Amino acid sequence: MNIAIYPGSFDPVTYGHLDIILRGSKVFDQVIVAVLHNSSKNPLFTVEERTQLLSVVTKEIENVSIESFQGLLAEYARVKKAKAIIKGLRAISDFEYEMQMASINRKLNNEVETFFMMTNHKFSYLSSSIVKDVARHGGSVEGLVPDIIEQELRAKFADPRGSTQQGG
Ligand code: COA
Repeated sequence: MNIAIYPGSFDPVTYGHLDIILRGSKVFDQVIVAVLHNSSKNPLFTVEERTQLLSVVTKEIENVSIESFQGLLAEYARVKKAKAIIKGLRAISDFEYEMQMASINRKLNNEVETFFMMTNHKFSYLSSSIVKDVARHGGSVEGLVPDIIEQELRAKFADPRGSTQQGG
């Protein structure tokens, strides 16, 4: 069984991430979307909210599961017996950093290979921060994130303690 891990902050998940998840699910037997417990970023959504939202928006893709992790990705991949790490490349500016990450991950776990997928050009400018910024200032994020994420962003910025809806 070829297990791949798609790691990230997903704060929140966007259509750019979903595009990679969907395409990755057609290549690998199982894709584990792994939400990082960030220590360096100051996330808007809690890990529980991020994993729950990811579960909702990927519920129709059978071979995708959502988990969270902390610590080293290479170690997490070893525990999960994953052979691959999936990363999306949006622009040439992503390349240098991603090459560094792929190299260190390979050094830490030589059984894991990083696979890069070109992000759909429609989403090449997208990041979770950009989406949050637009939403924070009352702009429309339609077409950038699924409807449920749009609603959750609106709730967060209307009330900073805004809670994540349960279920679909
Ligand atoms: N579509 C839309 N946005 C995308 C995207 C895509 N296809 N691919 C990346 N992005 C966005 C992300 O949303 C993120 O936006 P943000 O910075 O506004 O939050 C940004 O691009 C950077 O993405 P990425 O490089 O994947 O960073 P991340 O914070 O989401 O995830 C980890 C980083 C989890 C992969 C990395 O920190 C990690 O592996 N950490 C574990 C510790 C470790 O092992 N470190 C390495 C050895 S020291």
